[in-house]
Amino acid sequence: MAFCKSVELIRTTPPGPESRRLAELETKVLAHGAYGDLADRYFIAARTEGSLIEDVDGNRYIDFGAGWGTNNIGNCHPEILEVVNATLREQGVVCWTAAGNSPQRIAAAEKLLSVCPRRTDRVVFLTTGTEADEAALRIMRRASGRPIVLTFYGQYHGLSYTGQAVGTLEAKMRADVMPLVGGYVYAPYPNPYRSPLKSSSGGGAGRATIEYIEEVLLAHEVPAELVAGVMVEPVIGEGGIAVPPDDFLPGLRELCDRHGWYLCIDEVLSGFGRCGRMWAYENWDVEPDLIVVGKGISGGVMPIAAVVARSDITERADAFVSSTYSGQPAACAAAIKTIEILQRDHLFDYANELGAHALDRLRAMKEKYGIIGDVRGKGLWLAVEFVTDRGTRGKDHKAAADVHALAIRNGLYYIHDQISWFVRIQPPINIPRDLFVQGLDILEAAIAEVDRGRRAAR
Ligand SMILES: Cc1ncc(COP(=O)(O)O)c(C=O)c1O
Repeated sequence: MAFCKSVELIRTTPPGPESRRLAELETKVLAHGAYGDLADRYFIAARTEGSLIEDVDGNRYIDFGAGWGTNNIGNCHPEILEVVNATLREQGVVCWTAAGNSPQRIAAAEKLLSVCPRRTDRVVFLTTGTEADEAALRIMRRASGRPIVLTFYGQYHGLSYTGQAVGTLEAKMRADVMPLVGGYVYAPYPNPYRSPLKSSSGGGAGRATIEYIEEVLLAHEVPAELVAGVMVEPVIGEGGIAVPPDDFLPGLRELCDRHGWYLCIDEVLSGFGRCGRMWAYENWDVEPDLIVVGKGISGGVMPIAAVVARSDITERADAFVSSTYSGQPAACAAAIKTIEILQRDHLFDYANELGAHALDRLRAMKEKYGIIGDVRGKGLWLAVEFVTDRGTRGKDHKAAADVHALAIRNGLYYIHDQISWFVRIQPPINIPRDLFVQGLDILEAAIAEVDRGRRAAR
């Protein structure tokens, strides 16, 4: 992949004066916990366009975050803005109940179903991924009449009580929820680099997890007849882009079929082209019973999420799951247009091409820099994991923070928080090639510098 031209990015070292002024004001008016550590504030954004973010000091950053996974087709996509504005002018924000509906909501359901498995034929619109996950859990339980849901350590499903009950990204984060939790059983996610399990039949991490479910959970904790279904991220997102072995999802499907469980795949972060196909699970030979979608569904412009499921499930659940803002006409219009753009612009092929280039480059970086323990990815979703020592695989949060600080000071933005021990590469999937390569160059320079510092300190 040839590198042609570079974009001018940083004018004044971030945080610039106006960002600092606003960040100071922020400490007085915004609740701290909800917005991360304010000491880490590098910029206050003024505008976004495509794959660039500009801050209030005129600095620009290459966007390797795509919102928080919402802006798969780029920030402020003009066609999405146009259709949203037109629909808002026609209908504003409305909440039709039994007496009415909007053509956009019906058309969006049709469009969404057209890109889902043939056997899924019903949509419930919600507003956020968290809300849609909650709805899916209720639907599975009401349809089956069974109370327990099986899920996997390290997944994330939102910050609500239910989101934190089913999601186990971090123990500290769910300290207040954990004493109240019932209705779930958990197995380790088959992260090939970190799974604590060993297969008794000589398989890898995927097989080991399936064996754990059968030989530990079903033998000692819960009879299969009490389990309604499984909620799984096809690739773990927030927890570090962990890609499961190829036999995991098919093995899970087989287990679900054997025990009459529903397979619910959470595509809130992994869907809409992120993993090189419309849905991440399509990378394996598996078909879910329910799919939870959100984030990228509206091109990042309007809040909307959904559960897509088979009618025999939704009918049995008599699903009473909805809320005031769910399936707004403008959000539905954005969803239709987003799916059209993903297909029309062949963005899945493009995501796979850029992703393959990046993965090669990350592998080469791993050869050069000892702070890297693992690199991995699927489609245009990749991670570089830092370790204190390749033998012990200790998670190196400090290296991750240092790389992040250098990257951002040189004009590369990506999602990083206190729990990150990895870099998460998640640009809009239509990012121009040159800009993507420029972003990777900035990342590599930052990793090289932190690696040099580590070696010098020894
Ligand atoms: C897999 C997954 N599910 C659910 C959610 C929650 O979505 P939201 O923040 O829109 O409520 C997230 C958010 O990051 C997610 O990654």
